[in-house]
Amino acid sequence: MKKNLKLGLFGFGCVGQGLYHVLHETKGVKAEIKKICVKSRNKQRPLGEDIFTFRKEDILLDSDIDVVVELIDDAEAAFEIVKAALQNGKAVVTANKRMLAEHLREIYDLQQLHNRAVLYEGSVCGSIPIIRNLEEYYDNDLIKSVEGIFNGSTNYILTKVFDERRSYDEALKQAQALGFAESDPALDVQAFDPKFKLTILIAHAFGVFVKPENIINFGIDRISAVDLKYARDHSLTIKLVARAFKSENSIYGLVAPQFIENHHPLSSVRNEFNAVSVEGAFAEKQLFVGKGAGSYPTGSAVLSDISALTYDYRYEYKKLHQENRLTFTNEATTEVIVSYSRTGDVSVTDFEKFTGGFQGNGQQSMQGIVRLEKIREWSRRTGINVILAPGSEVKPLVSVEKAALDYA
Ligand code: HSE
Repeated sequence: MKKNLKLGLFGFGCVGQGLYHVLHETKGVKAEIKKICVKSRNKQRPLGEDIFTFRKEDILLDSDIDVVVELIDDAEAAFEIVKAALQNGKAVVTANKRMLAEHLREIYDLQQLHNRAVLYEGSVCGSIPIIRNLEEYYDNDLIKSVEGIFNGSTNYILTKVFDERRSYDEALKQAQALGFAESDPALDVQAFDPKFKLTILIAHAFGVFVKPENIINFGIDRISAVDLKYARDHSLTIKLVARAFKSENSIYGLVAPQFIENHHPLSSVRNEFNAVSVEGAFAEKQLFVGKGAGSYPTGSAVLSDISALTYDYRYEYKKLHQENRLTFTNEATTEVIVSYSRTGDVSVTDFEKFTGGFQGNGQQSMQGIVRLEKIREWSRRTGINVILAPGSEVKPLVSVEKAALDYA
């Protein structure tokens, strides 16, 4: 039986306004916004002032409100709101990927403790219904891998840089103006945002809670004109690829830019579109493509969660109960092209297998196979850029190789 839900909304930015619009355009969802809690007292807002409050208690302590919809920017403040909402018997819908990634285990425990749902489809890849598919459609399939383009801003920037030859700075400004970028765009361009999303998907695909700091991320902010020329000369493009996969009892993950061949399915995913490829043992590979950022696409994912609450839907975290012996590890290698301008910054000894080097236009490049931890080390130093080679995969270090490398 469908319920009429009363909503208390936190935040009225890009996604909050998108939700307001899609909720009013959609006749079938039995839910209405009772109050909106906002921070700034001076902003001009498109609604009458009666609906707004500056006091979070006006929502959290209102027994008439069934669902807290949390759409603010600050991850720690958002976590406090989620905790207080659950403690006060309210269900929660949130799109805050950083908050979820950093506190997913606690949020899972809080849901069990308070017997209330937290839904967050809007937190991963905007309009693509990936979490509910992992929970419901793939609940009995053995998932081998989840990978794709999980950040709209960087995909928009890379598209503009490649297709329209815009500068990186100009394309980033556009992504900000269109409301795709985070308020701190470093989270996008340094690949933290897609890493948060990958962290969430790892929990739903493989039943493993991994701390985001354990996953290595390398951004697109160091890509140079030489890298772009290399891509164009070889009929390649560059995409920021997030990936996680299972091998034996381990889960591996990485977010890094990669040279992509023109025939690859990710090559045609442009602008703020995202893509998620899921590989199951029986279903095999399936690709979901949709808008990954923006007011209405993300608002529609939030609306879908609200609608699901009208029939008491909850995530069951089915994989957590099926596969609790898996652990996350970075004991793997991949093939990279690493570029730098200061001689000596990178050496052949950094590679497990060195395959070649080239130089030109004041930049030097080396290609070969490295451990994932080497990519983390390079991400912490300046002046070094890493792009995965075309077709390169992340490969687990098998124990014999690992022993040989450890004692080499
Ligand atoms: N900044 C994010 C992106 C917003 O560009 O994908 C959607 O999560």
